[in-house]
Amino acid sequence: MIFEASAPSNIALIKYMGKVDGAGNLPTNSSLSWTIEDLRSYVKLTHRSDLPKDEWAPLEGDHLAQIQLNEASRERFLNHFQSLKSELGVQENFLIQSANNFPADCGLASSASSFAALTMAAVEALGEFNPSCRDLSLGERAELSRKGSGSSCRSFFGPWSLWFKEGVRPIEFPMHQLLHQVIIVETEKKAVSSSQAHQRVTTSPLFAGRTDRAENRLAQLMNIFREGDQLDHWRAAFEIVWAEFWDMHTLFETSSPPFGYMLPGSVQILRWMENLWQSENDGPLVTMDAGANVHLLYRQDQKALAHKIRGEFQKEFNIFQCNELREETR
Ligand code: DP6
Repeated sequence: MIFEASAPSNIALIKYMGKVDGAGNLPTNSSLSWTIEDLRSYVKLTHRSDLPKDEWAPLEGDHLAQIQLNEASRERFLNHFQSLKSELGVQENFLIQSANNFPADCGLASSASSFAALTMAAVEALGEFNPSCRDLSLGERAELSRKGSGSSCRSFFGPWSLWFKEGVRPIEFPMHQLLHQVIIVETEKKAVSSSQAHQRVTTSPLFAGRTDRAENRLAQLMNIFREGDQLDHWRAAFEIVWAEFWDMHTLFETSSPPFGYMLPGSVQILRWMENLWQSENDGPLVTMDAGANVHLLYRQDQKALAHKIRGEFQKEFNIFQCNELREETR
């Protein structure tokens, strides 16, 4: 028996950074993300009664870029599957195959999409042996996924996903067709993983006010988004999203010991965006994850700007664009 699932990645505008003590990836603050439908992970589960334990192998397919998980990532992936089996009361063994539709070494994180896809496929597969799995709501499946990797719970919903104390759910805003672009500054694996970052930031003297700052920004951003996408709102959203990723990166840099992800290329791009906003009073929303790459979100009427920005940076950096922008440049 074979079970397949695919899940998108997501980029947070209000970041999940810092966990409540204890297991399960419970966040110290709510987060809000845009679902990146075109950056996806694919998982195939094959029931194998001949295997003494679960195994992982790369998934192959025309539209897929093969991945080779290192030992630690493979173990984390398999452990999550094992926990799902224990929680859902199934003991059968499976071959787990996975891949992304983007190259592994291009600096784009895949833990959110891959854990979401694994959980989606697992619930279906385990449902063959424990039919009550099929009754799990999408929100409950997302909660199971959260235990494997926190940000993956947001990948169950789109285009906007809100993860707060009570769980994760989709949320509606008038802007539901944003365009996503990411300028790839770094393709190497990170020296400090985001899971480690969650622990290290708690040593920063600034962590004390982090929950309040993030919750305040979230409340403000949701009010702005609810009101619409007129220029004044967009500008106010830009300012909040900008302050939010700097807040997270400042936590990194003030931890003990300090660590950071910004590279000269990131700073160069950020300065350019700052100048753009100052001269035009308009521009994309700009954010960064725990990495050096710069994510940009545009309104539908900003396609020309997206192409201009791509033209500006494509000689120096690789750029990933959502399908809608990519198709226009063909
Ligand atoms: C900086 O979800 O990767 O991307 O729960 O330990 O797997 P674990 O962490 P992870 O953290 C993501 C952190 C972030 C911000 C965000 O996506 O909200």
